Amino acid sequence: LVQTKDTLRAPVICVLGHVDAGKTTILDNLRRTHVQDNEAGGITQQMGATNVPLDTIVERTKMSRKLISRQGDFMIPGLLIIDTPGHAIFQNLRSRGSSLCDLAILVVDIMNGLQAQTIESIRLLIDRQTPFIIALNKIDLLYGWKSNKEKDVESVLEEQDSFTQDHFEKRYDEIIVQFAKQGLNVALYYKNPNPNEYYSMVPTSARSGDGMGSLIAMIIETSQTNLAKHLSYTNELQATVMEVKAIHGLGTTIDVALINGCLSVGDKIIVGGQEGPIVTQIRRLLIPESNQELRDTNQYENKDKVMGTCVVKIAAKDLEKSLAGLPLFIARTHDEIDYFKNEIELI
Ligand code: GTP
Ligand code: MG
Ligand code: NA
Repeated sequence: LVQTKDTLRAPVICVLGHVDAGKTTILDNLRRTHVQDNEAGGITQQMGATNVPLDTIVERTKMSRKLISRQGDFMIPGLLIIDTPGHAIFQNLRSRGSSLCDLAILVVDIMNGLQAQTIESIRLLIDRQTPFIIALNKIDLLYGWKSNKEKDVESVLEEQDSFTQDHFEKRYDEIIVQFAKQGLNVALYYKNPNPNEYYSMVPTSARSGDGMGSLIAMIIETSQTNLAKHLSYTNELQATVMEVKAIHGLGTTIDVALINGCLSVGDKIIVGGQEGPIVTQIRRLLIPESNQELRDTNQYENKDKVMGTCVVKIAAKDLEKSLAGLPLFIARTHDEIDYFKNEIELI
């Protein structure tokens, strides 16, 4: 199977890690948003989802272009990125996020190393055989760190004073041992001897922006090579309800990750509910503006039809008791309604 620009869908990327490792701030840096500033206590408490278009990726990876694809070209149409909370009580959301994604970013605070929810996240990813890239975040906190956003982080590390490099090595060596205790081999992305055996690690600072281009470039590179065979666009509907939310003026809505296929206003949908499957009709399809997180915006674009891969808010009647974490189906006939109701009850 040879993938081309026309056959590859956007990969779904989930961001996982311990509380305050910097997951939301990394996404803010990529999107040029300020979601983290507005979170209560600086703690993420729900899933966030963002449609990141290709032009953002092209712009944000210009210092790391040599990494991208053996063809030297961008083939994926964009990214659907899902942010998850790191706080211990949100295990279900980390599990939901990791079950949806094609590839994950595991964020590790370089000063703290592996922590309880880092290890929990690793177990989720290994159990599901989900590939992941490690962001070794907060490198700006290393002694004497000198930032340079114009260069790939490999060169930025080389340019540091020797005492800064020593501090990096010390933290890095400790973290390698911590990963080894979890049974994982890790290597810096530019020294990775074999990506099938070693997880790549990208030093980042969400605060200064160092390494962000390299991290995104690694995601693109991995998506277009190792992952490409899993990323074919198909017409068969594949959609999951991520969040159920009451929105002023819209009533209860569902946020849906549409992986494949399409959804149209007027479609008859079946979703899981607290008291059994719910059958309703799509009244409105709302897409957040590019690079805006669905949980953080009230600026939506109304669509008649959307195609995978993206996050979309659906307004419809009778969604009050719907359940997150379950698939969404479309029924074209009466028989299909019964069939999909049954499918949902079997989950
Ligand atoms: P939860 O979603 O609550 O699990 O946290 P999170 O992983 O999303 O971390 P968040 O983005 O909320 O960042 C936590 C704190 O770390 C905030 O005060 C950020 O400003 C800070 N922070 C994030 N990234 C960096 C970084 O690269 N360097 C420094 N110095 N601080 C950072
Ligand atoms: Mg967060
Ligand atoms: Na936080």
